[in-house]
Amino acid sequence: MGFVYGALHRLGVTPWMQTGRTFHIEYDALLAPAERPLGGAYRTPLPGAALDLGCGTGERACELARRGWSVTGVDESQYAIARARSTAAQAGLDIRFLRDDVTHVSTRTLARTFDLVLDAGCFHGLDAQRRRDYVGHVTDVTEPGGTLLLFAFGPGYRGPLPSGASRMHVERLFHGWTLVADLDADSSTLIGPLKHSDPRWFRLVRD
Ligand SMILES: C[S@@+](CC[C@H](N)C(=O)[O-])C[C@H]1O[C@@H](n2cnc3c(N)ncnc32)[C@H](O)[C@@H]1O
Repeated sequence: MGFVYGALHRLGVTPWMQTGRTFHIEYDALLAPAERPLGGAYRTPLPGAALDLGCGTGERACELARRGWSVTGVDESQYAIARARSTAAQAGLDIRFLRDDVTHVSTRTLARTFDLVLDAGCFHGLDAQRRRDYVGHVTDVTEPGGTLLLFAFGPGYRGPLPSGASRMHVERLFHGWTLVADLDADSSTLIGPLKHSDPRWFRLVRD
């Protein structure tokens, strides 16, 4: 996937940006209070430090910043990072964008830990080994009690497109996390075969 994204960013072709257009609407539902299995509720997280993994051209990072989060965005594409910086600058938002591989992030490279981690379409395109690396590294940079919002297509072979992830897959892989909610994602902006990819948002809380 890395080569494909790199080439698309270089050409300025970013069709997935369409799915981000409704993020400001989805945000409240994604972080609404959620029931705990043994009673009580997971509260809506208050703005603190947020990390946008595979941030692309930075629109979702900007939305988080507008909502009061102190945001760091990470993407492996230098073209994506350049565009994200310019998007934030034009919006007058102070966001830190770093070029890095999401499967290697660490408190050393990011120089801090996070209360909220957003992954809108990066994890579900990684292969099995890189997903395992990702979980270990993302766990290390997330505060206990911190939240991860993960967007994923349903599982399926799609050639060069992301192979997706099921709820069971996410629950098995994310050791040290509790799956708090599993919500339908807006598929109205997806095109072609992706219209039927059953996209979901998984909300996890770090134990
Ligand atoms: C489908 S796009 C989503 C972009 C953005 N989150 C959005 O919603 O508009 C996936 C992004 O993840 C980035 N990406 C893929 N694999 C990555 C990796 N291993 N490390 C860092 N970024 C990665 C790609 O460059 C691309 O910008």
